[in-house]
Amino acid sequence: MDSKAWMELSEKVVAYTYGRFPIILVKGKGTRVWDMDGKEYIDFLAGLAVCNLGHCHPKVVKAIQTQAEKLIHVSNFYYIEPQIELASLLCRQSFAGKVFFCNSGAEANEGAIKLARKYAKEKMTEGRYEIITMERSFHGRTMATLTATAQEKYHKGYAPLVPGFKYVPFNDIEALRKAIDPKTCAVLIEPIQGEGGVHIASEEYMRALRKLCDDQGILLIFDEVQVGMGRTGKLFAYEHYGIEPDLLTLAKSLAGGVPIGALLMKKEVGEVFKPGDHASTFGGNPLATAAGVAALTALLEEGMLENCQAVGDYFLGRLGELKDKLSVVQEVRGKGLILGMELKKEGGPVVKEMMEKGFLINCTMGNVLRFLPPLIVTKREVDELIETLGETLKKL
Ligand SMILES: Cc1ncc(COP(=O)(O)O)c(C=O)c1O
Repeated sequence: MDSKAWMELSEKVVAYTYGRFPIILVKGKGTRVWDMDGKEYIDFLAGLAVCNLGHCHPKVVKAIQTQAEKLIHVSNFYYIEPQIELASLLCRQSFAGKVFFCNSGAEANEGAIKLARKYAKEKMTEGRYEIITMERSFHGRTMATLTATAQEKYHKGYAPLVPGFKYVPFNDIEALRKAIDPKTCAVLIEPIQGEGGVHIASEEYMRALRKLCDDQGILLIFDEVQVGMGRTGKLFAYEHYGIEPDLLTLAKSLAGGVPIGALLMKKEVGEVFKPGDHASTFGGNPLATAAGVAALTALLEEGMLENCQAVGDYFLGRLGELKDKLSVVQEVRGKGLILGMELKKEGGPVVKEMMEKGFLINCTMGNVLRFLPPLIVTKREVDELIETLGETLKKL
């Protein structure tokens, strides 16, 4: 079957929940992917911040092969060796004392929401269940996480939503202070809003936020599903701020491309979960966590965080040069290798043309071009992208 026939079949049998570009990607290596017709692309999307190590990292491939021959899945009724290893690694590298494993970002956030409510019932004054989230946020597509997501477009058609969420403007400590009341049990925030258009929480705001949560005795939850695992140049985005959350969610790149999610918890908060309180059949299964151990080890050992910082700074500078030259660019922003270019026009046509020219990029919020390349991307690849992007933008 050729690619056209595959796409026609997809239209018939696969749920129509995605507007797709007309290519089928069949192979990946490092920063490159190839489609079924043999065309090569430089991937500045990385499976939406999943392939941080690049496509098919040899150590992840090997770990999957080895584990698949030994044991793919067993129930969480039994101890699972690579799960224990990955949890230990994550605890050693972070504020966390305990980890709950699941399969996606939404599921990790769902776990955080449930734990916050349970912790509030057991440890806080009576009647606290409400979670405050930020305008422009994105936390997932399950009923609770889409309610936590304060963008109306994701709510449409799904009412009634889950009770117990309240929204405030991002980076506005006074608005948050006013919103906290005797029902509040937690604040949930992305340190950098990804889907919301690459907006960075300021240092001043994050420090004040930690203090406010401490003063009020409520939990602080960071959603690092998109910005965790090295994307900002540090293993976790919270490390940029000199503060720690009480709970933190991860998914996307944690296992180098194998589906996984994780809820990292301060020990005393995590201890509120008791057997039977929360579960996931596949959560932390041997295959996913063996891939996770290999991915995290490679991330830490192969200089990727350093490359992310250096190439990220360079990339932001080069995007800034385009902004200075082209009036269609409103602003450029980001940290490490999560970068955004806000346009004064729709970004969709730019994404399409860049793809035709061999570069995969993304557009969010209608007019923010988003760049999320693998953390191994080189300055030379950035230069190639900038040249093509400049030519494309000039025509707008
Ligand atoms: C910050 C953030 N949280 C949660 C999610 C949801 O993750 P998943 O699609 O794995 O459920 C995403 C996905 O883009 C995200 O960017």
